[in-house]
Amino acid sequence: MCGIVGYAGRRTAVDIVVDGLRRLEYRGYDSAGVAVVGDGELLTEKRAGKLAVLRAALADGALDAGTTGIGHTRWATHGGPTDRNAHPHLSSDNRIAVIHNGIIENFARLRAVLEADGVEFTSDTDTEVVAHLLASIDAPLPEAMRRVSRQLEGAFTLLAVSADNPDMVVGARRNSPLVVGRGDGENFLASDVSAFIAYTREAIELGQDQVVVITPSSIEIIDFAGVPMTGTDFHIDWDLKAAEKGGFDHFMLKEIADQPQAIADTLLGRLTDHGIALDEVRISDQDLRDVTKVFIVACGTAYHSGMVAKYAIEHWTRIPCEVELASEFRYRDPILDSSTLVIAISQSGETMDTLMALRHAKQQKARVLAICNTNGSTIPRESDAVLYTHGGPEIAVASTKAFLTQLVACYLLGLYLAQVRGIMYADEVGAVVRQLQQTPDLLRDLLDQMDPVRKLSRDLSSARQVLFIGRHVGYPVALEGALKLKELAYMHAEGFAAGELKHGPIALIDDDTPVICVVPSPVGNAMMRDKVVSNIQEVRARGARTIVIAEEGDEGVRAYADDLIFVPRVPTLLAPLMTTVPLQILACEIATARGYDVDQPRNLAKSVTVE
Ligand code: F6R
Repeated sequence: MCGIVGYAGRRTAVDIVVDGLRRLEYRGYDSAGVAVVGDGELLTEKRAGKLAVLRAALADGALDAGTTGIGHTRWATHGGPTDRNAHPHLSSDNRIAVIHNGIIENFARLRAVLEADGVEFTSDTDTEVVAHLLASIDAPLPEAMRRVSRQLEGAFTLLAVSADNPDMVVGARRNSPLVVGRGDGENFLASDVSAFIAYTREAIELGQDQVVVITPSSIEIIDFAGVPMTGTDFHIDWDLKAAEKGGFDHFMLKEIADQPQAIADTLLGRLTDHGIALDEVRISDQDLRDVTKVFIVACGTAYHSGMVAKYAIEHWTRIPCEVELASEFRYRDPILDSSTLVIAISQSGETMDTLMALRHAKQQKARVLAICNTNGSTIPRESDAVLYTHGGPEIAVASTKAFLTQLVACYLLGLYLAQVRGIMYADEVGAVVRQLQQTPDLLRDLLDQMDPVRKLSRDLSSARQVLFIGRHVGYPVALEGALKLKELAYMHAEGFAAGELKHGPIALIDDDTPVICVVPSPVGNAMMRDKVVSNIQEVRARGARTIVIAEEGDEGVRAYADDLIFVPRVPTLLAPLMTTVPLQILACEIATARGYDVDQPRNLAKSVTVE
């Protein structure tokens, strides 16, 4: 989950690399560092803390000479977040610098061998062994990287530069992301394309277990066995503006505001005269008709979108569907075969828990379909089919627009399955898609009415705990609201199925405990709505302060609400596209009121590439 950038070209490398790190800082911000090759020697700077600390240290221009360089922003795993553990790590003779994302599982054994040979280590990281191993091989850097990579176990992306190869950056990857940017007289390597989209839109996807060598004028790829390979070219159509704050105080606020457009983009072109068209579905219609069971695997916010998807998929297709935390999936030996469809949902496409669940499913012969936001990432590449969410880059660590676009993709997939299996006619599918197509405008209206939520957040910022309740698709929304509050405002927050509260958690409620209640539509499902209203009364009777999210026109809930937030009416299954939004804003504003960094909450990283 660290961010890494490499540059070989004619410009000042440190500027390009630090600019790339700025865009990758969401991946980790415990420390940052750069190395450039200048005048036959390596120049490095690295600092604990956020990128701003490194920038200040670079202000004297001492690294400006080099036109080849690498940079790293760290999410600490092995070794605390200190200057000495910051990357790059150097070989003892200071001729080779290495940066790394991932975990080298056999580093302790490798380190013991090197130490026995007299090598002195200067950090507690697993990465430093790579610098010393590279230096110990008497071969050009690409060959040394290939041989070292074969000795390593675990997940890694490595970049290295050497004082002896002033024009060259060498990379290697196994189970960890690395993409190549193809420029004109310059080339790039990075954890993801956002690091170089300011300079080039042409990128190359690398395969597993490959070494890549970039110079200003060439890109060469070999596998770990030394066989020349070709990567897969792709064009990046993300708008650069999408990776900037665009006048908002935080990326998260911008990404919340981006949601109507992100939904519209995710829906664009999906509805044809023949029903729904998806991206890369390499699973035949017959195989989709033969599916007897669907599993959804995902983590965190993506898991919550999967919970909503279960309701939609079962309702529209009548195929049994289970949602599983990806980190648990393979350990319980799930029953999978070729008639099982496994849907892996991931914004980054690199989440290791989800990737491992996907691989387990493939080993068991299940078909795997990815819902993903990141072109060129590992999860879609290893899946049989992909449905991309066109949310654009999500930089804030807490997911917002990724969640809503994942919901949209799940709805589309559910409708597609129903269409292929002949359960819904094209006009029925079209009718739901048209309802989906109205949601961006409804959401724009909703976003314009969020001032009361902002005011409310100032009130709630000193609460000891906040509880969230919901039923049916409102339940995952309650979980998502609580997750946002925990990760951004560091408050105790829990989401519950509204009917489950009375079986224990209601004991948490005391005077003035804020309880946020997600109320279903009285039109879409009056019975369910009335049940939630009863649950609201139960918590009010115990002194809770109730903050009610309800559908416009449901005046009946007013009597049970200390604070009432209306959202536009949409069909029941689509309601999370509306009800989630006030909860995102609430968490963001409470965190701001408590003085926390909304875009980079403590202890987190956006892309979790370790298990
Ligand atoms: C929460 C959040 C995380 C991610 C989770 C999965 O705001 O962002 O819970 O949803 O780590 O990440 P992806 O979707 O990249 O697999």
